[in-house]
Amino acid sequence: MGVIVAGLGASLPEKVLTNQDLEKMVDTSDEWITTRTGIKTRRIAREDEPSSKFAIEAAKIAIENAGMKPADIDVVIVATVTPDMMFPSTACIVSSSLGMGEIPAFDISAACSGFLYAMNIADSFIRSGKYNTALIIGVETLSKITDWEDRNTCVLFGDGAGAAVLTRSDEEGILGIEVRSDGTKGDLLYMPAGGSRMPASMETVKNRLHFIKMNGREVFKHAVTKMPAIAKEVLDKAGISVKDVSLFIPHQANQRITVSTGERLGIDPEKVYSNIERFGNTSAASIPIAWWEAYSKGMIKENDIILLAAFGGGFTWAAAVVKWRRK
Ligand code: UT7
Repeated sequence: MGVIVAGLGASLPEKVLTNQDLEKMVDTSDEWITTRTGIKTRRIAREDEPSSKFAIEAAKIAIENAGMKPADIDVVIVATVTPDMMFPSTACIVSSSLGMGEIPAFDISAACSGFLYAMNIADSFIRSGKYNTALIIGVETLSKITDWEDRNTCVLFGDGAGAAVLTRSDEEGILGIEVRSDGTKGDLLYMPAGGSRMPASMETVKNRLHFIKMNGREVFKHAVTKMPAIAKEVLDKAGISVKDVSLFIPHQANQRITVSTGERLGIDPEKVYSNIERFGNTSAASIPIAWWEAYSKGMIKENDIILLAAFGGGFTWAAAVVKWRRK
């Protein structure tokens, strides 16, 4: 018995925000953003577009892509740090919108590593025999918690959703997943207010504490060591050589992190997928959006080995190795 990724999907807002647009909003330049991050444009949700809108659209595509119906899904897991509300979960909104009935549905919080954390949970559920088929979604509308007056962060983020359907199979598709965390570094990338520690008040709003705060340099340093290390570990445990990897899809945080991680792993640059130029950093959504794009472009064939790796707030980091099998 194995677990395969039977379907993928993604959804992005229509509105495009360019570096030139940002030049008019904060003291920055297209040149700085391009050379330091690789980002040129990002998609931004409208005021009336919550995360669930994109999650639902991505889910519909993934379920159809798997040749399934919403009724075939046994559990829904949504990874996000920008849920529609603190509660109920965005997963409950997705499952009811798609008419999935009274199946279990819940959100998880693991920032940029959220999609791989969700994959780990879904994979374990299916392997244990508890459920046959899981829908996992990484979705963010980071624009809603971005401080548009802070040039250190506002140039980096974007919105969107990606989804995957995991199901039981005779074949083995998910060859390994590793997930880690280090809560001692939580304050290097976080949103201070709006939770029980610092509930929303006039004061928290005035002090701009409902926005993402990041020590970019520190996060960068950890990302470029932790991502390649965990990717190597997942490959070693699965008994797969780096040479056998057909496509490496890292979390899209910064083109310099992507290039450095690929180099440290010794993966050919043409096998490292990047779309950060167009979409920026979409946190939990970045891996499934990139995966869906690569698949849609015909870059993934049956039996290809796909390596995924992420790093983000928490700190959290994770990697997975997947053999592409659709049957
Ligand atoms: O999703 C997972 C978590 N996130 C990440 O993995 C992001 C990790 N970090 C990064 O990608 C990079 O650290 C950044 C892109 C955020 C920053 O790049 P950097 O090369 O580390 O720049 P820096 O923070 O060291 O800042 C360099 C300079 C500073 O000026 P001074 O202090 O040297 O005078 C900043 O004030 O660049 C300045 N700066 C800007 N200048 C123009 C910072 N942001 C901007 C900006 N435009 N948007």
